Amino acid sequence: MSNYLTEKKQWVALQNHFNEIKSKHLDDFFKNDSKRAEKFTISDGSVYLDFSKNRMNDTTLNLLVDLAENCNLVSEIEAMFTGKKINRTENRAVLHTALRDRSPEPIVIENVNIKEQIENVLIKMKKVSEEIRNGIWKGYTGKRIKNIVNIGIGGSDLGPVMVTEALKSYSDDNLNLFFVSNIDDSHLIESLKGLNQEETLFIIASKTFTTQETMTNAESAKKWLLENLKSEEAVKNHFVALSTNKEGVVKFGIDPSNMFEFWDWVGGRYSLTSAIGLSIMIAVGYENFIELLEGFNEMDNHFRKTELKNNIPVVLALIGIWYNNFFNFETMAILPYDQYLHRFPAYFQQTEMESNGKSVDKSGNSIDYQTGSIVWGEPGTNGQHAFYQLLHQGTKIIPADFIVFAKPITHTGDHHDKLLANFLAQTEALAFGRKKEELEKEGVSVELIPHKTFEGNRPTNSIVLEKLTPNSLGRLIAMYEHKTFVQGVIWNVFSFDQWGVELGKNLAKKILPELSLKYNENLNHDSSTNSLIKLVKSLESR
Ligand code: F6P
Repeated sequence: MSNYLTEKKQWVALQNHFNEIKSKHLDDFFKNDSKRAEKFTISDGSVYLDFSKNRMNDTTLNLLVDLAENCNLVSEIEAMFTGKKINRTENRAVLHTALRDRSPEPIVIENVNIKEQIENVLIKMKKVSEEIRNGIWKGYTGKRIKNIVNIGIGGSDLGPVMVTEALKSYSDDNLNLFFVSNIDDSHLIESLKGLNQEETLFIIASKTFTTQETMTNAESAKKWLLENLKSEEAVKNHFVALSTNKEGVVKFGIDPSNMFEFWDWVGGRYSLTSAIGLSIMIAVGYENFIELLEGFNEMDNHFRKTELKNNIPVVLALIGIWYNNFFNFETMAILPYDQYLHRFPAYFQQTEMESNGKSVDKSGNSIDYQTGSIVWGEPGTNGQHAFYQLLHQGTKIIPADFIVFAKPITHTGDHHDKLLANFLAQTEALAFGRKKEELEKEGVSVELIPHKTFEGNRPTNSIVLEKLTPNSLGRLIAMYEHKTFVQGVIWNVFSFDQWGVELGKNLAKKILPELSLKYNENLNHDSSTNSLIKLVKSLESR
């Protein structure tokens, strides 16, 4: 059992400090410090983080920063940006930041300037996306492409889905975008319903080009195409691939000239700024895609160059550790007050939970402290009418990030002011609640007072930006990516591998042929799995 972290003197200091302030109310923090909001708001010039409604004071922040320094955070950040092989269990560098580094400086990895490779792929993406947007790219029978179907899963799906939804108002309305990920064929079938094969382009997005879901969906999509177009030659006009596996792409039957390459130093869940973003570029155009990359890059620079105390991803990460490891709050919510960001929480659920859902440290020892939180969320104001009751009055405390853009994209009456008012009201209500005394003054009956009392003291971060643009979106995404990285450094876990996904995949491969055997033959799982196999077989054959 490793106590690498919990034995540090900085950790012990935090534990002692926690014992001193754990029962303090946010009322007290605000009462004793008129400059609190000002002091606890930091910015990169575009993203404003007000973290004043958290159960912490200056000492907390200083102690957390001490801990981060002692965990060598600054040198770990440099190690990532400069291409050291920090993903040691896969022997890989972690260089998604290079994908959006728009400076002319080379980044050399194993004698190759990867900036040139990145630029070449971007140029190819530009050419093809413009051909599709301008109707120059034709289907096999000469028709213009109207439907783009991205087939991928996990990092090869969630990022493109989230960004194309977020930037819908910047998108070409003449193109219909679909994202198919689930092995459940209903996803493919429902997406293809009513589409004309002659006008449909499939993007097969898979880093490995071996993922069961993606390859199965891609094969079925090919079959669907050829049922109508009859000739294998049609594949060239209707299939492109985004992958690191050229051999796999060719074996599938996609012309290598239709392949957009990326590299093993791009993690799946950090890949939307690589070729995996092709569907995004097709939707919003090259210029907007570059603006997105610039936003990412600006947050990357802020993260790399800003002192820890004023560094947005670092402060977010440290607050997360404060709650996860000292208060033992197990989950955190991401609550964007923007319908365009409706897939944003799901995207960061993968980033954080796949990256930091680990229970051994970098030396392989079991650890005696908590790692990755459970991340979830939905857009406001919808969530207010669904699960906020528990946030306000439940027995669990759920720290939440509230995100909003001051200016709307669309202007309909006073919708946006109402959205902003709700955003502001929620964090105020969560922090300060509604006291018994207030209710008494209002004449609320004695029986109802306990039900109408809000204890408050529920922590939130408010993240405010001017407007949802490709640039501001890029900054927001990079902010959470780096938050996840910082937490991994402090927890001393490898954030860029995902071995935990393997076992289920392998067992599914073992079970698949057993489903076609007669159900009483040679099943050697546990008794539950054996009987479940028999049950689904018998129900299936009814
Ligand atoms: O679920 C595991 C995972 O490896 C993710 O990390 C990844 O984003 C996803 O599968 C898809 O992988 P690929 O892009 O190789 O198909």
